Amino acid sequence: MTFPLTHFHELDTPFYYYDLDCLRETLSTIQRCTADRPDFHVHYAIKANANPRLLQIIQEAGLGADCVSGGEVEAALAQGFPADRIVFAGVGKTDREIRLALQAGIHSFNVESLPELEAIHELATAMGKKARVAFRINPNVDAHTHAKITTGLNENKFGLALEDCLPAIRRAEALEGVEYVGLHFHIGSQITELEPFEALCARINDLQDELEAAGIQTPNINVGGGLGIDYEAPDENPIPNFEGYFATFASHLRLRPGQQLHFELGRSVVAACGTLIARTLYVKQGHEKQFVIVDAGFTDLVRPAMYGSHHFTQNLSAKDEGELQRYDVVGPICESSDVFSKDELLPPTRRGDFIAFRSAGAYGEVMASQYNLRRLPAAYFSDELA
Ligand code: LLP
Repeated sequence: MTFPLTHFHELDTPFYYYDLDCLRETLSTIQRCTADRPDFHVHYAIKANANPRLLQIIQEAGLGADCVSGGEVEAALAQGFPADRIVFAGVGKTDREIRLALQAGIHSFNVESLPELEAIHELATAMGKKARVAFRINPNVDAHTHAKITTGLNENKFGLALEDCLPAIRRAEALEGVEYVGLHFHIGSQITELEPFEALCARINDLQDELEAAGIQTPNINVGGGLGIDYEAPDENPIPNFEGYFATFASHLRLRPGQQLHFELGRSVVAACGTLIARTLYVKQGHEKQFVIVDAGFTDLVRPAMYGSHHFTQNLSAKDEGELQRYDVVGPICESSDVFSKDELLPPTRRGDFIAFRSAGAYGEVMASQYNLRRLPAAYFSDELA
């Protein structure tokens, strides 16, 4: 990825820089990998990045939307995502959010508990509507990922246990205001091996056999998101392994005739195209460490502080001079967790140098906060700085 440094000099930092060619290439890879499968429906998980410009491009590429709040449903509709390609998940949907989604006529609710099912039934009945519901089932599959982003294990708050699935469907069948349309699963995020997805397919196959034996037809299967990216080599591997990912489901999941398969991909769609750009404020010589103090902090990109994640870091201003130095790259926020990375190897870095935190397009801008009364980071796009 190349960066328009001359333009950067005119801008206030920190900001997000989005490379739209990278996004479009990612989207066309998804299209290519699913072209011969009209029964595969890819929804973009808006939680990863709700920037309107990106949503617009993603919508134009034909993806649906996966939403987890009323605000996201509204954002999806505002950017032109067709209501019948919107799915709505979340353990704690409010009455207002449920009504809004019913009014819009979304494809389906991913229902995570029986009390939620009853609430949706009541609200839909009062509006004279029938809500399409899919049950989120917790498949108890270990995604081998970070503890804070694993979701498919029984100890998590999400979904219904496998054994509670059949009674939930029976309950839905008995309620006037809802229609059972599918099963939903999500095992976690930043999953870089395909084996957990194979395990998920096996669980779904078993469950489907069981439900079929009980005479239940399931029109839609939704396998959630989770495909990981290569955070350490963004230029070598800018496109995630979509080919292997979709092929895994094509070969391991036994879909029934007419059954539709849905995906909810967030990170893999938008992570690579976004970079957080910061300026070096000071280089501080400590007694044991050297610090590069930048003007971005965890209010702009919370992932390192919150999950201990590392974003590939570059000094965009440095010329090829001198040996690499070890720096702790830190932000200005008054908390000791405001550290992007420790012992980062960078060329000799000076005040004013631009520092790039790569692969920050997912769960970056959208998770920004104003803590310390900081300004929210701005966003710029490659086509406006060309
Ligand atoms: N579907 C459901 C039900 C989800 O909970 C998530 C993400 C997705 C789809 C999209 O997953 P993805 O394809 O992006 O892995 N903030 C964390 C990640 C949180 C993921 C939450 N759920 C991070 O920065 O790593």
